Amino acid sequence: MLKIVSPFVILTIITSLACENNIAEDQIDQLEDCTNVETYYSDSVLPIMEQRCTICHSGNAPSGGLGLESFSSVRNSMAATLDRVNRNQGSSGFMPQGGSKLTDNEISILQIFFEMECE
Ligand code: HEC
Repeated sequence: MLKIVSPFVILTIITSLACENNIAEDQIDQLEDCTNVETYYSDSVLPIMEQRCTICHSGNAPSGGLGLESFSSVRNSMAATLDRVNRNQGSSGFMPQGGSKLTDNEISILQIFFEMECE
C-alpha cells in the first residue's frame, strides 16, 4: 500500500511546490511592470511631494534646479531625495527645507518606491 501511495504523495508535493514558484514569479512580474510603480507613485508618493516638496520644487525656476512634479523627475532623483529627507531636521541640506521631518511612514513609502523595479 505504501508503495502505491508514495509516488502520488511525492507528485503532489512537487506539483504544489511548482505552483508556489509560479505565484512567486507572478509577483516578480508584477513588480517589473511599470504600471504598478506608476500606480504606487500616484497613490502614495505624489501626495507627499505635493504636500511637502512642490511648493519649492516646481515651476520654471524650481529650488535647487529640481522639479519634483512628474513621475520621471521624482523617480530619477530618489537617491538624492532619500539622502535629504533622512538627514536630521535643521541640519545642512535637510529637506523639506525649513519644514518638519517627514514621518517614518512617509520615508518608508519613498524608500519602497526607490526599491521598486520595472522595465
Ligand atoms: C522651502 C523650500 C523647499 C522645500 C519645501 C523643499 N525643498 Fe528641496 N531644496 C530647496 C532648495 C533651496 C534647494 C537647493 C539647496 C540645497 O541643495 O540644499 C533644495 C535642494 C533639494 C535637493 C537637491 C537637488 C540637487 O540636485 O542637488 C533635493 C533632492 C531636494 N531638495 C528634495 C526635496 C524634497 C524631497 C522635498 C520634500 C520632502 C523638498 N526638497 C522640499 C528648497 C526646498
